Amino acid sequence: MKRFKQIFIAFFILFSFLFIINNEPSIIAQQTATEASTGFDNQSNGLTDAATHKKNLEGFAEVEGIKDGIGPVFNSFSCGECHSNPVIGGSSQITELRAGHFDGQKFIEHPGGSLIQSRAIDASIVEKVLEGNEVRALRLSLSILGDGFIEAIDDAVLLDIAKQQPNLSGGKINGQALWVPIEEAPGVMRIGRFGWKSQQASLLSFSGDAYTNEMGITTPLFPIENTSNGKSVGKFDNLTDPDEEDNDDIDGFTEFMRATKPPSRDQQLANTSSALAGETVFNNMGCAICHVSTFKTLPAGFKINGSTFTITPALGDKIIHPYSDFLLHDIGTGDGIVQNGGQETRNKIRTVPLWGLRTRNRFMHDGLSLTVNESILRHSGTATSVIDKYRTLSKKQKQQVLTFLNSL
Ligand code: HEC
Ligand code: HEC
Repeated sequence: MKRFKQIFIAFFILFSFLFIINNEPSIIAQQTATEASTGFDNQSNGLTDAATHKKNLEGFAEVEGIKDGIGPVFNSFSCGECHSNPVIGGSSQITELRAGHFDGQKFIEHPGGSLIQSRAIDASIVEKVLEGNEVRALRLSLSILGDGFIEAIDDAVLLDIAKQQPNLSGGKINGQALWVPIEEAPGVMRIGRFGWKSQQASLLSFSGDAYTNEMGITTPLFPIENTSNGKSVGKFDNLTDPDEEDNDDIDGFTEFMRATKPPSRDQQLANTSSALAGETVFNNMGCAICHVSTFKTLPAGFKINGSTFTITPALGDKIIHPYSDFLLHDIGTGDGIVQNGGQETRNKIRTVPLWGLRTRNRFMHDGLSLTVNESILRHSGTATSVIDKYRTLSKKQKQQVLTFLNSL
């Protein structure tokens, strides 16, 4: 019996030892995760060398003309025009217009698609909102800085956040993770994370979409030209579609975006006692349930977007602080538009990442809140019980929260 006990103990020790050895790689992997370097400095995060980044940046900011395929209907002449503050790739004050009709059960897109292009190369084809399309929405330009790291977040992480969101007195904070198609990998779906509706998961898909829909330049990935309110504009189009014979331009935009650094904190403010206290209040109130501060990206070598992109060391195992869960929420600000999601997404908006907040002077999807305080007070719906806590803060605590937000 005693012998039996000794053998048992010996085996126990051996197995524990093997277990520890076996687990070591994951312990090492955790230790190697490092903070992504940040900055509004137009420099590469290391994905590409400085010369390639400069070339890609110039491509992103390049003003295109009609002979390059601009229009016939479009919104602007370059990616950089709407993504430029405070450096190329940031946000801007430019808004876009979307419209459609709600028949009591479902959203029906405006003829020609819910995006109403605001410019055209001929006076007769400028798109208008037609009668009967009572759902109208403005959408503010978003920043793309640091988006390569967001693309490198695992679906499972986003699904897990959605699952863990708590039941509060005002109801469940039930962020919705949306499966969206990867255009460059037909049949593959991933959790959306880009755009006000989390309507895209891949930066290449977003680039192809934006080149066609913002600028009117079609590519093999997005070969179909827009219409004017549903009517063909072919007679104003001198180029045969796709305007670009290859996907080189959108590959360049994608590489540029993947190589950008995330926004940096305001170093003067970030470590003040007021900002530090403000972040604690922010967390304690429950703002961080949706505005999640910290993520770790997938490791280098991991393939995403249907194996069309392999995460490199510049993007892999990096720690970032976007202050978003990238999920859709009904906080009472929904714009009634459905994109890449079901009817239940109509009145939901993605939690906007708060990094880089201090560079913006218009807030929320429509840009119609003009101070940070107003944008916070505009949250209702599933955010009500959290915002009620904000309302009852002392003047000093409120100031601390705003100081923290202004340091982002
Ligand atoms: C007319 C202004 C305008 C132009 C031109 C434009 N964008 Fe945008 N961009 C926007 C707006 C507005 C949004 C938010 C759209 C939405 O979700 O409805 C956006 C969102 C994005 C996003 C999502 C960012 C995120 O983190 O969620 C990406 C990526 C992007 N644009 C890339 C591009 C690229 C690449 C080009 C050039 C081919 C381009 N954009 C041209 C206005 C513009
Ligand atoms: C239930 C999820 C949720 C909670 C809780 C929440 N937010 Fe938000 N927040 C959002 C969403 C979604 C948006 C975007 C809404 C829109 O554009 O219509 C947003 C937008 C914002 C914006 C505007 C940023 C910009 O660039 O436009 C600020 C600032 C903000 N939230 C701060 C806070 C603070 C502070 C708290 C806590 C008191 C909080 N939020 C709690 C989901 C949430």
